[in-house]
Amino acid sequence: MTAALAPASVPLFTIQAGEENKSRKSWSRLTDELLDAGFGRDSAIIALGGGVVGDLAGFVAATYMRGIPFVQMPTSLLAMIDAAIGGKTGVDTRAGKNLVGAFHHPALVVVDPRALGTLPPAHLRNGIAEAIKHAVITSRAEFDWIAANLRALVREGGAPAHLAEELVRRNVAIKAAVVARDERESGVRKTLNFGHTIGHAIESLSGFSMPHGESVAVGMVVEARLAALLKLADSNLAGTIASLLREAELPTAVPNSMTASAVLEATRSDKKSRAGTVEYALPAALGEMAGAERGYAIPAPDAIVLAALGASRATL
Ligand SMILES: NC(=O)c1ccc[n+]([C@@H]2O[C@H](COP(=O)([O-])OP(=O)(O)OC[C@H]3O[C@@H](n4cnc5c(N)ncnc54)[C@H](O)[C@@H]3O)[C@@H](O)[C@H]2O)c1
Ligand SMILES: [Zn+2]
Repeated sequence: MTAALAPASVPLFTIQAGEENKSRKSWSRLTDELLDAGFGRDSAIIALGGGVVGDLAGFVAATYMRGIPFVQMPTSLLAMIDAAIGGKTGVDTRAGKNLVGAFHHPALVVVDPRALGTLPPAHLRNGIAEAIKHAVITSRAEFDWIAANLRALVREGGAPAHLAEELVRRNVAIKAAVVARDERESGVRKTLNFGHTIGHAIESLSGFSMPHGESVAVGMVVEARLAALLKLADSNLAGTIASLLREAELPTAVPNSMTASAVLEATRSDKKSRAGTVEYALPAALGEMAGAERGYAIPAPDAIVLAALGASRATL
């Protein structure tokens, strides 16, 4: 893909793969390299890579010379259907993920699902986790579509081209529609955080060794249980979501190395905590999110979060 970008005229700046490189250190090196190379306000950045590259390069673009345009060319499924859409850019800090960042929309998003042909299966499944999240917050029909096509979607060697394209098309439409209604996340965009309050806590407790999609998969099961314990959702919703996740070979239980209280503690550094209160985006049913009247941000007592975390160790 880099060859198609005519490297002679487009200088290449690279980072080592890995969430740990979505950092201020990388931001600082890249901005220095751009300055050293003499790039001015009239330049633009192409972010070619997974979500790590997209978030980091986007943040470089948001801040370089007070903001220059950038193009998202996502190459992982997760980046194609989620990270590249919606204008959130940023880097991680020791205190948590994405805590330093900016809203900066790409001028263009270019998605070629053929890039998925080389994506390792584990990363394909990470993207599927976000697609399942999109389905849960959107409609039962979306959930059923994934369920019906799951085997082909996670097939060794990649999904058939038409199916990969449809997956991307459906999910870009879902994410773009939510962002268009609420760019700054004051209401409906919060529904995209389903699974993420617990997911981010687990991801950060793992020292980012547990991938984002896998962490969110566990987060969705715990948060669906939490919704049931808060009497917002039916008690079988968590099981329905967990069985689809399991079929996608995604984890559904909190790793044994993490205590429930450590996960609870880690949720407090999440951006979704407001004045010390941690808020959740919780489903009421497939395709229906709870708490519309309070902007889809639901606080939960510690004891109930601990119960939901504890329960998610048991086999569903
Ligand atoms: N900005 C947002 O709204 C948003 C939304 C969701 C997630 N994110 C962020 O996205 C990041 C996760 O993104 P990710 O899952 O793409 O992880 P990633 O960028 O780390 O990519 C996963 C791995 O796949 C490799 N890879 C990417 N494309 C490939 C391809 N076509 N062939 C072979 N290997 C390829 C990468 O080098 C990396 O090793 C997290 O930092 C998360 O916070 C941001
Ligand atoms: Zn996510």
